[in-house]
Amino acid sequence: MTESENQLLTRVGPGTLMGKLMRQYWIPVLQSSDLPEPDGAPRRVRLLCENLVAFRNSAGKIGLVDQVCPHRCASLFFGRNEENGLRCLYHGWKFDVDGKCVDVPNEPPGSKFNEQIKITAYPCVEKNGIVWTYLGPQRDNPPPLPELGWALVAPQRRGALRYQRACNWLQAMEGDFDSSHLSFLHLAVDPKSQDTAAEKKAGIDYYRNIARMDKQPLLEVQDTDVGVMYGARRDAADGKFYWRVTQFLLPFYTSVPSYGGKNRDKIWVPLDDEHTMVWEPHWSSTRELSEDEQKGWKDRVAPSGFLPDTEDALGKHRFAANAENDYLLDRARQKNFNFSGLENTTPIQDGAMQESMGAICDRTQEHLGASDAAIVRMRRRLINAAKELYKNQVPPGVENPALYHKHGDQFLLGEKDSWAEHYAAKMKLDYAALVSR
Ligand code: FES
Ligand SMILES: [Fe+2]
Repeated sequence: MTESENQLLTRVGPGTLMGKLMRQYWIPVLQSSDLPEPDGAPRRVRLLCENLVAFRNSAGKIGLVDQVCPHRCASLFFGRNEENGLRCLYHGWKFDVDGKCVDVPNEPPGSKFNEQIKITAYPCVEKNGIVWTYLGPQRDNPPPLPELGWALVAPQRRGALRYQRACNWLQAMEGDFDSSHLSFLHLAVDPKSQDTAAEKKAGIDYYRNIARMDKQPLLEVQDTDVGVMYGARRDAADGKFYWRVTQFLLPFYTSVPSYGGKNRDKIWVPLDDEHTMVWEPHWSSTRELSEDEQKGWKDRVAPSGFLPDTEDALGKHRFAANAENDYLLDRARQKNFNFSGLENTTPIQDGAMQESMGAICDRTQEHLGASDAAIVRMRRRLINAAKELYKNQVPPGVENPALYHKHGDQFLLGEKDSWAEHYAAKMKLDYAALVSR
C-alpha cells in the first residue's frame, strides 16, 4: 500500500476524503443513557476530529453543537443547559439545538445582532436507545437511518458495552475482519483453561477446536452491495466444511459469527485519527438479555477493568490495561496459560496488538499474504467508495437502509453446498421477522 492510500484510508477530519465518505452516513454517537435527563450536564464529544458538545434540552431533544462559542471562543461545555438552550458562561449567549443564537444578553436592548449568529449544529435522532447524528452535507434533509439489526431492537435486547481504542479506526476494525488471528492471539496453551462449561453448552468449544486444528482457513471473499463479506472454510468431521461468514458494512460496521442466540456486531467510530470508540451492540432478535448480558458479552471486560471516566472527550470507556503498562502482559501466563500472556479477554488482546502498530499503522511496511485477502478487499472497497464521491455518487447503503440486513454467521455445510446462498437465505428469514415487528 502506498503512503497516499494509507493517508486516504485513515484520515477522517473535515475535508479529507474518508472523512467526507463517513459524513455521508448517520453515525451512532452516544447512547440515550449518556444524556439521561432534560437540562442535565452537557457532555464533550469528539467525533471525526471535531470537538462538539452534546446536551439534552428542556424538551428532551438532543443537541450536538460546535464546542466553540462564536462570540469570543469560550467552550460551551461549561455552559448552562437551561430553558431549551445552552448558555455560554462567559457573556451569556444562548444557542438552541439547531445552533440558532436565541439570546445575546450583553448587547443593547432591541439588538438584532443574534440573528446573524449561528453555530454548527448536527441533527440528532434517538431511536431504541441510540443517539445518531449526521455530519453530512444534507443536514436539512438527511437520509434514512441504516437498518442494522442491533439498531432495530429495543435496548433490553442489546449489549451496551463500549471501549475506547487508542489507535486509528481502520487498524482496529481490520482486527475484527481477520479470521486468521483467532487461531493464535486468542487461544489457550492449555485448552481446558478456555473451554468453560457454559461455552461447551453453547457449542463454542466445538467450533473453537476446529479453528485450533486448522490454522489456515480458505477464504472466499466477495463484495456485497454495502461492503465486503467472506466465508472462511475449515474442514470439519464427516466430510463437512465449517464456514464462518464475517461482514464488513460501510463505513465502519463489522459482524462476526456468533453462538448462544445472540449476534455479535461491532461499530468502529473514529473519534479522531488516533482514537476509536468500539461499540459491542451484541443483540438478540428473539429475547430480552439479562442484566449481565446487557452490560456486555461475558468476559469481555478484563479483571483489570476500566480507568475512571473523566469529562474529557477522550476520557471515557478506557481499559486499565493499556500501553502504559504493556497491557499487563505476564510472561509466566504466556508460558503456561494462554498464547498471548495477556488477560484472557479478547478486547485486551486485540487492543494490545492493534495499538502496538502505532497510532496510525504505516501500511507501507506490511507484507500481506493469502490470509489477508479479506482485509485487502475491505480497504479497496473503502478507497473506491471514497473516490466515487468525486463523481457525486451516493455511497452504498446511504439511501437503502435494507442493505444492512446482514450479520456474521457460522454453519456446517456439505462439500457441494454454496455458503453464500445458504447465508443469503438465512439472512432473508432473520430480517423479515425483525423488520415486520
Ligand atoms: S464567549 Fe461565549 S458569550 Fe462570550
Ligand atoms: Fe480478536
